[in-house]
Amino acid sequence: MISFRLLVIVVSGLILGSQRVLVAGTFARSSVVRSILDRSLAEDAKLTAPELIGKYRYPIEIHKVQTTDGYFLEVHRIPNSNGVPVLLMHGITDSSAGWVLSGPKKGFAYMLADSGYDVWIGNARGNRYSRRHRSLSPRLPMFWNFSFHEIGTYDLPATIDYIIQNTGYPKIHYIGFSQGTTSFWIMCSQAPEYCNKVIVMNALAPVAYLGNSKSPLIVALSRFINQLEVLATLAGIAEFSPTRELLAASGAIACNDKAVTQALCANSIFFIVGYNSEQLNMTNLPVLYGHVPAGASTKQLLHYGQYVKSGLFHHYDYGRIRNLAVYSQPTPPAYNLSRVTAPVALHYGLNDWLTVPKDVKRLASELPNVIAFRQIPHPRFTHGDFMFAIDADTLVYRDVVRIMREAEQKYPISQTKPL
Ligand SMILES: *[C@@H]1O[C@H](CO)[C@@H](O)[C@H](O)[C@H]1NC(C)=O
Ligand SMILES: *[C@@H]1O[C@H](CO)[C@@H](O)[C@H](O)[C@H]1NC(C)=O
Ligand SMILES: *[C@@H]1O[C@H](CO)[C@@H](O)[C@H](O)[C@H]1NC(C)=O
Repeated sequence: MISFRLLVIVVSGLILGSQRVLVAGTFARSSVVRSILDRSLAEDAKLTAPELIGKYRYPIEIHKVQTTDGYFLEVHRIPNSNGVPVLLMHGITDSSAGWVLSGPKKGFAYMLADSGYDVWIGNARGNRYSRRHRSLSPRLPMFWNFSFHEIGTYDLPATIDYIIQNTGYPKIHYIGFSQGTTSFWIMCSQAPEYCNKVIVMNALAPVAYLGNSKSPLIVALSRFINQLEVLATLAGIAEFSPTRELLAASGAIACNDKAVTQALCANSIFFIVGYNSEQLNMTNLPVLYGHVPAGASTKQLLHYGQYVKSGLFHHYDYGRIRNLAVYSQPTPPAYNLSRVTAPVALHYGLNDWLTVPKDVKRLASELPNVIAFRQIPHPRFTHGDFMFAIDADTLVYRDVVRIMREAEQKYPISQTKPL
């Protein structure tokens, strides 16, 4: 059991692209530490994403979207009935909260709302806001039999259709981070008509190819993958997120500014979001710990691990024998990137160990409609920095909004009456 937990921690570090794993041991629990915690931040760590948005006085709506395979997804909206809709999709083990954790002015969802957009924040199946299914309980292994393949094939189309029906706009903006980009490529490959419903796709830390992932730990994961497969098979397809409460608790205690344990805390956060001390807001760490990780399946992690090993971008690999039954061929079919016809703007970081510039360039060369290929102007910008860096607003988000505005002028759209 202990080794499984350790594995879970290590794997989440691997996926999120850090070079440093420090198992911090038990954090000192003291009531003194507790009492000096900033109350408001401690509260932010506990609130749900909609509560958090409401706390900062933005309007908030909660929508329930059902996928054709029976999952109920919560979509959180900061409404503006005149604004052009934009859908935000989070990364693996994250949720809608990721887009607001940095608070007003800094959080991307708030910036988009301030810029006049109608902001819809998606939640992929399996995270804390999307854990219902018409017939399956999350206690059943079958509930967790999905990867980002299903997120791209079912969750994104259902969410996009729902937004279009409710706003009367024929097209929407899409912004994805990490897995939120992987699932987008898959959606377009599997159901290209959905690509026509997107004004422009802004991809933050885009992930398709991972063959050059240079994090020593990512490479270690790929060597470990057969054992991980065995583990997953033995344990059944399962949820990957046993430690959310634990992290929330330890983060709230260890990560506040005045606590002596902050140095430890800083180290452990780096294996979640990557290492860039200049861009990490220490004060805000307890809030981050309260919301990430938010839930995912083991299969999602294994699917990424397969990409490190194969260097390709393909359907889930069940092994030669089962592949024959599932795909009628011994190897999993590749996703067809030439079907991603939507205009795409790619934003990548030089210090992103998970999705390194070389792999992003390969993706760019295979996408047919790249309108921008943007290196973030900061030499140490990491994977997690796209969501949580102190200067993400000026280094990343401002340009995304500019690209969205330009695309609206180039491809004008108009609103019809909502149904
Ligand atoms: C999981 O889903 C895949 C494809 O959708 C299917 O082939 C497989 O049999 C399922 N696995 C389990 C354990 O139900
Ligand atoms: C860091 O986070 C705190 C708490 O959310 C916030 O008040 C502060 O402005 C942030 N600092 C910077 C430099 O963004
Ligand atoms: C990929 O999609 C394009 C456009 O739909 C099609 O022309 C091409 O044949 C596909 N390639 C493969 C290998 O299926």
